[in-house]
Amino acid sequence: MRAAVVTEFGGPEAVEIVEVAVPEPGARQVRIKVAAAAVNPVDAGTRAGVFGGAGERLGLGWDVAGVVEAAGGASGWNAGDEVVALAYGTAKSLGTHAEYVVVDADAVAAAPRTVDAAHAATLPLNALTAAQALDRLALEPGQSLLVTGAAGAVGGYVVQLAARLGVSVTALAREDDEELVRSLGADRFVSGAVAPGSVDAVLDAAILGADALEWVRDGGAFLGVIPGAHPASVRGVRTGAVEVAADGARLARLVELVDEGALTTRVAGTYALDEAVKAHARLSEGGLRGRLVLTP
Ligand SMILES: NC(=O)c1ccc[n+]([C@@H]2O[C@H](COP(=O)([O-])OP(=O)(O)OC[C@H]3O[C@@H](n4cnc5c(N)ncnc54)[C@H](OP(=O)(O)O)[C@@H]3O)[C@@H](O)[C@H]2O)c1
Repeated sequence: MRAAVVTEFGGPEAVEIVEVAVPEPGARQVRIKVAAAAVNPVDAGTRAGVFGGAGERLGLGWDVAGVVEAAGGASGWNAGDEVVALAYGTAKSLGTHAEYVVVDADAVAAAPRTVDAAHAATLPLNALTAAQALDRLALEPGQSLLVTGAAGAVGGYVVQLAARLGVSVTALAREDDEELVRSLGADRFVSGAVAPGSVDAVLDAAILGADALEWVRDGGAFLGVIPGAHPASVRGVRTGAVEVAADGARLARLVELVDEGALTTRVAGTYALDEAVKAHARLSEGGLRGRLVLTP
């Protein structure tokens, strides 16, 4: 099968399409025939060497929508099941940017019925991150949350999920994004600085760091998106960073929200797997609203 991998770090042109053996699922694993796989900022990071692994073959791609093609023992899934899944890891030899991917069965959920595979493939990584970030923040209805990067993939899902919880959401995004973030459920919109100490919590998907920490009230909470790179606590503000974990059961609940129309999946464009270099180049230009998706 063909797969997109990196063996030498670099820019978009460092992505190679290679021929590799179709991976075999072990016990409690499934092999998914990939229908669509989103390209995320983490893939650009892997390609550029941000996570290390020099000299190894690094597979790209975390998100997948597709069809179960083979199942190891006790997987709970059957050939033909339409699914979505998260293939966790910055140091895997093969990812979802391939014709087939093997994932742990408990990272898998039934695919949404109301959106196509390309849209479904934009869900796992970023919706799980958003849901798990909100778990960490543990806000009560009526409390206030500022979401930076609110027009992005993580930020957009955080806005929608937080609004459903009754949290009062302020969206920080580019000036042109006001209509978008309000449509996702933001109560307030800002495109610049916020009054110091004015919100209970910040989810910092735009990686503004110390500036965004200033906007949290004393004793509030700050959650970043880069593990290990969040600012130190000040004024009793709890600080940390979310690190997504595969969770098929949680993903299934997010799929339900998609099918209820409560969670919006956004595709900015699709590319053939063989055009992965072009997709990486477009991602690196920035300014996308919605995800780029590869189809084998
Ligand atoms: N820790 C984890 O488990 C985890 C999981 C998923 C993602 N992440 C990380 O989370 C980050 C966000 O991911 P994503 O997929 O949501 O990225 P994304 O879709 O590119 O969204 C980022 C958004 O932030 C906006 N932005 C950046 N700087 C801004 C500023 N100063 N003011 C207003 N808006 C600003 C961007 O606008 P422009 O496009 O116009 O710049 C974009 O809309 C990435 O670093 C990703 O690697 C971490």
